[in-house]
Order: sequence, then structure tokens, then C-alpha cells
Amino acid sequence: MASFKTLDDIGAVSGKRVLVRVDLNVPVADGKVTDATRIERIAPTIAELSKKGAKVILLAHFGRPKDGPSAEFSLEPIARATAEVLGRPVGFAADCVGDKAAEAVAAMKDGDVLLFENTRFYRAEEKNEPAFTEKLAANGDIYVNDAFSAAHRAHASTEGLARHLPAYAGRTMQAELDALEKGLGNPVRPVVAIVGGAKVSTKIDLLMNLVKKVDALVIGGGMANTFLAARGTDVGKSLCEHDLAGTAKQIMIEAAEAGCAIILPADGVVAKEFKAGAASETVAIEAVPADGMILDVGAKTVQSVNDWIDRAATLVWNGPLGAFEIEPFDRATVAAAKHAAARTKAGKLVSVAGGGDTVAALNHAGVADDFTYVSTAGGAFLEWMEGKPLPGVEVLKR
Ligand code: 3PG
Ligand code: MG
Repeated sequence: MASFKTLDDIGAVSGKRVLVRVDLNVPVADGKVTDATRIERIAPTIAELSKKGAKVILLAHFGRPKDGPSAEFSLEPIARATAEVLGRPVGFAADCVGDKAAEAVAAMKDGDVLLFENTRFYRAEEKNEPAFTEKLAANGDIYVNDAFSAAHRAHASTEGLARHLPAYAGRTMQAELDALEKGLGNPVRPVVAIVGGAKVSTKIDLLMNLVKKVDALVIGGGMANTFLAARGTDVGKSLCEHDLAGTAKQIMIEAAEAGCAIILPADGVVAKEFKAGAASETVAIEAVPADGMILDVGAKTVQSVNDWIDRAATLVWNGPLGAFEIEPFDRATVAAAKHAAARTKAGKLVSVAGGGDTVAALNHAGVADDFTYVSTAGGAFLEWMEGKPLPGVEVLKR
């Protein structure tokens, strides 16, 4: 039995108004949704509730509006995109509380789906104000949270509502929590983590937590340079947070004490400029030229990362190994991602990945579907990996 209530526990919902918190904070360019993954992920919960005759009312935020309602942050175009992805009509109410919301709900038939306007048009949403939460709750009989990726926010629609209405995890929330449990909560060992990305400063808590939980930690991306420099390797002109040398050393000490191997790059692909197609060469990590920048890890390092993936029963991955967004510096990330995907397909590995860049990198490598689970969460995935309780998840626990 799950430690939180799911749609399996929800009982009869026919004719009931179910407020479903979803994450529709999707990337948009020129009025078009450029990645609909988050919309696709909420489809099962909506379909299940609708099929059982519920009135499905979607609550969501979009962007970070600061001064009340604006066309820029309206969810109306996203309602249309959601209808397209779900292949069914999705109504839209121009407010999430008050008369407009109530009228739209009153007009719903059993099985209908309606999206409310951006909850963040009210400051009270982010402040989790009880009076506002009550207004939201007035339009529902039951609350379902299917927005893991917003669960690190203690907002009215992500946390407060669960205190006002009977509350359940939606199918995506459930799948996410199950996958994360397999990744770090109660994983099959050995567990290997790959952490990359530009900066150590944004991931100190993550690294500190991981070295206590995993058997090996591969550090790649720009952040590896800070570790290399801390141990005395000259990284030339590479991105490097020299002021964090002490923190990096401390993480390496904690790792040694916890018996966690730290794998740093043995070689690097260096260039003189940060540009697609820039002339580059692979050098031993001790031989980075003074005017060179490490933009990816080299083939020797990829081999060692893949060897660690072979030894692992569980892999958690956050952050690319190199500057994967510009070629040819995507090579190491693509090679390791393909290797992890192949091991997963062969039934040898449980692979869980998350974070905005990571999902983009796995999509770029064409292997996102081959991982055991790819989280669409950014901040929430990180905080979860840091071992922090997520307010939106905690409140759903039995
Ligand atoms: C996200 O996009 O990471 C979530 O939707 C949360 O958005 P936020 O970082 O603006 O709270
Ligand atoms: Mg975010």
C-alpha cells in the first residue's frame, strides 16, 4: 500500500467536482507550446476521472506573474493546447475563484473538463492564505494533486487545498513518487548518480545528500571543474567557481567517509571559444592548455562512466556531462545516455532522470523513452534528491 492515497482510494466520483492540480507550466514560443510532455503526463488522471463521471476542474499556474492578471501569463492558450493533446474539449474559466469560476463549474456536465485561469494571478496563492484556499475549495468536493513538479511549493493550490478537501495523488504524482522511491528511497544497490550542469553553487545540498546515499557519484559538466581545481588540477579558462574549492573538498571528504566513490573527468574536450563547431581537442585532464576551456568530458571518461553504469543496479541522473546544447560538445552526454538506456532496456538497470536540462539532453540523445522514469520536474526533482520534504507530497501522506 502506498504511503499516500491515490485514485484507487477515491471511491465514487460520479457527479462530483474534482479539483485537479496539474502542472501546465510548459515552454511556449510565439504562442505555441514547444514541449507538451507535461500535458501528456496529466492525461491518464483526467481520462480516469472523466470516465468515472467526475466534473474535472484543472488548477494550474503559468510563469511567475507579479502583478495580478495579464494576457502574458494567461492559461487560455494552454487550455487550447491541452484540448489538442488530450483529444477532447477543455473548457476555460477566466478566473480561478469568484463568480466566473462558479458559473463555469455550474455549467459543467458529468465527465467534462474545465481549466481555471492562472492561480498565481492572486498573491494569496503563493502565500497559501487560508481564506483564498477556502475560495478555491468552494468549487470542489475532492482534491487531486497530479503536479509533482510543483510540489516543492507550499501554495494554496499545491498544499493548502489538501487540508480543506479529501486529498489524493493523481496517477502521474503516483508514478513519480514510485519511481523516485526506486531511485533513491529504497533502491537496489549499487546506486550510481550522475550529476552535471554548470555550477556547484546551485547543487551543494544535492551533492552533500547524494554522497551519503549512493555508492558512486559521477561529476560532470562545468561543476566538475570546481572539483578538479579544488584538488589542484589546472582547468585553464574553464568555467570554475574557485571560491567554492572548500565546499568541493568538504564534499569529497564526506564522500570518502561514507564510502562513496567520486568519479571526476580523466580527460576533457577543450576549445578556445564557447561556440557550436568550435575547433576542439581531447586532452588528459592534467594537460588543459592555459587558454582552453573544458566543454565536455573525453572518451576515456565516457568509458569509465559507462563502466560504472554497468556495475550499477540503479542510476539517478541530473545534469549533462558537457555543454550538450552545442555540437560537438554533446557527445559524452549522448554516449552515456545511450548506454544507460541500453542497460535499462536489457533489464539490467533502473534508471531515473530528472531536471529541465537533463530531460532536454535525453530527448536530444533520443533515449528519454528508454529510461525507467524521466521526471518532468525541475526544482521539485532537485529538492527531492536533496532529501528535502516536499510540502505538496507531505500533505498527501496518510
Ligand atoms: C516548474 O516549472 O518547475 C514548476 O512548474 C514550478 O514552477 P516555479 O518554479 O515557478 O514554482
Ligand atoms: Mg522552476
